[in-house]
Amino acid sequence: MRPPLGIVGAGRVGNALARLLAAQGWPVVAVTSRTPAHARTLAGAVGADAVPDAAAVLARAELTLFTVPDDAIAPLASELAEAAVPGRAAVHTSGALGAEALAPLAERGVRVGSLHPAYPFAGGETPGLGRVFFAVEAPGLELRQVLLEVTAALGGQPILIPAGGKAQYHAALAIASNYAVTLFAEAERLLTGLGIGRETADDVLNGLLAGVTANLRERGVPDALTGPLSRADVGTVRLHVRALRAAGPELAALYVRLALRTLPLVRARGTDTGPLEQLLEEESANAPDGT
Ligand SMILES: NC(=O)c1ccc[n+]([C@@H]2O[C@H](COP(=O)([O-])OP(=O)(O)OC[C@H]3O[C@@H](n4cnc5c(N)ncnc54)[C@H](OP(=O)(O)O)[C@@H]3O)[C@@H](O)[C@H]2O)c1
Repeated sequence: MRPPLGIVGAGRVGNALARLLAAQGWPVVAVTSRTPAHARTLAGAVGADAVPDAAAVLARAELTLFTVPDDAIAPLASELAEAAVPGRAAVHTSGALGAEALAPLAERGVRVGSLHPAYPFAGGETPGLGRVFFAVEAPGLELRQVLLEVTAALGGQPILIPAGGKAQYHAALAIASNYAVTLFAEAERLLTGLGIGRETADDVLNGLLAGVTANLRERGVPDALTGPLSRADVGTVRLHVRALRAAGPELAALYVRLALRTLPLVRARGTDTGPLEQLLEEESANAPDGT
């Protein structure tokens, strides 16, 4: 069963999901967005009509995807309660919020749920979503079945998140993906601080990260861990902390904190972490800000 789909929010996720589903032959019938030109562009690409507002999408689509910012979901659901068509389905794509964000629609007989692709949509063309997991959440069995079908049509894998668990689920993904970008930016700053060009610095780091993700995929935790901590190379860790302290004390403190969080992985590899612990505690105590 492939119910006609509507999109509210022609941003990164709305574009990616609508285009990929349309390419799989899933009917996309209506698109709206805050900026009408964005709705028109997406509608044109997927053979849908651009409509003036979300109420018009709800009126036409049997399954409406709310691909708007998280903070816009509940207010939109409240505004739309009057336009709700009982028996139709409305689903948002937030990772952190549950189906309850659409409660005003559920109270009017709309079947509600959420479908979160665990993938970083940064804009531009999205490659296929094979291997990507989709957190599927729908209290009703019939809608859950439809969302499993959407996931399968996109080539993804479903994962069911226990009720009340989406914030923790999404925090986990944010740590792994968003903070990888933060750490990349810090590493890039250190390399360019040595006079290395930004493009070269990025190439160095991207090559390294490609190896890390391959190791994680093939070996998992803790065996994917490499570097001085994995070998308990205390002298090298000391050199790192001193160099970072010269570059910026906050970064040195972050390094020490992350190293302390890494020690259980080092121990799990069967390495004695006693000397490392001693060094990291000394460095914490010696830090100018006490961290
Ligand atoms: N980006 C990701 O990697 C990712 C991954 C998984 C899930 N998600 C989730 O997917 C949802 C959308 O994220 P995104 O990254 O695609 O955001 P985005 O690129 O900022 O797109 C949001 C879209 O919603 C439109 N919009 C905002 N308020 C609206 C309103 N009141 N009515 C109609 N349209 C409105 C915006 O309008 P205009 O552009 O037309 O002005 C924009 O096109 C969020 O819940 C997010 O948590 C994101």
